[in-house]
Amino acid sequence: EKGGFDHFMMKEIHEQPKAIRDTLSGRVKEGVVDLSQEVGLTPEQIKGIEKIHFVACGTAYHAGLIGKYVMEDLARIPVECDVASEYRYRNPIITDKTLVVVVSQSGETADTLAALREAKSQGARVIAITNVVGSSVAREADDVIITWAGPEIAVASTKAYTSQLIAIYLLSLYFAQVRGPKAVSELSEIVSHLLELPAKAEAVLKQEAQIAQFARGIATSEHLFFLGRGMDYAVALEGSLKLKEISYIHSEAYAAGELKHGTLALIEENIPVVALATQHAVYEKMVSNIQEVKARGAKVLGIAVEGNHELQKTVDEVIHIPKTIDLLAPVLTVIPLQLFAYYACVERGYDVDKPRNLAKSVTVE
Ligand code: F6R
Repeated sequence: EKGGFDHFMMKEIHEQPKAIRDTLSGRVKEGVVDLSQEVGLTPEQIKGIEKIHFVACGTAYHAGLIGKYVMEDLARIPVECDVASEYRYRNPIITDKTLVVVVSQSGETADTLAALREAKSQGARVIAITNVVGSSVAREADDVIITWAGPEIAVASTKAYTSQLIAIYLLSLYFAQVRGPKAVSELSEIVSHLLELPAKAEAVLKQEAQIAQFARGIATSEHLFFLGRGMDYAVALEGSLKLKEISYIHSEAYAAGELKHGTLALIEENIPVVALATQHAVYEKMVSNIQEVKARGAKVLGIAVEGNHELQKTVDEVIHIPKTIDLLAPVLTVIPLQLFAYYACVERGYDVDKPRNLAKSVTVE
């Protein structure tokens, strides 16, 4: 049942190329995204959207954070992203021109479902991105985009997250095509890169041995930092959650530019830092942040894009992800972080698939 792997989490990490491919399947035709079967909004309604709220919990919330970057960049629609347990109690401004996108692997998360109901009752249109056909969230939303990741058994979410990102890229491109802030040729270029992600995810998985080695080397550490800028910051949050969740090592994710506003005080000799440097627009800034932690003795694992031969001069170890456009990099960047959490957990001898105190589906508040 684990397909030859020791744990469901590892099986699911390795299923990501397929999950990505299946989530793209049938939704792209000749460089154009077509979600008209799933999303019932007319072109006029799509043009009329004034703002979007992504609402979700945990890992799905981290997918929503990426959604803010992607939707704003591609479709130029203002986006807010909220944790469902906060959103439902904070009196958000919702009108009939608000689109609420709830993201939920299980489709049964109590807070996400309550947020959906609240948004609907205030007149918003609700799209659900979920992995379970016929789930509560799927039944109650106006429109549903299924992530075809297949059943996810491990408590720590992996393939559901990358599939949620794919659904978010598709939705953003679909809206961008209708609203037209970018040239058609530019959008179809992005689509062609999107279609290359399954093969590239496969290539990232090949670096498992190197990631495992670094993870084993830090397994006795008590604290760890993940740093990134832009979308790498959102991925850092997800990497940090994954590590805490299964290895019980305390970690924090920081927007690298925030370091000197307090956190740098915690960086001392031998503290492990995972530094994500895949975003070209902020690359130089990121490198200077890495130098700041190196100067204080941190042990740094860098994540860079293939062809970068420079970062290795600054950090202790580098993992390279295949070349893609910055916007799509999170799908690849998160994979080394999932493997990292997995191997840290195994090295420490904890139960990978069933971390303490956690349930797969949180149906209570
Ligand atoms: C973390 C994890 C959780 C879930 C969260 C939302 O690895 O799995 O943070 O992402 O409980 O669950 P869903 O997506 O089912 O609403």
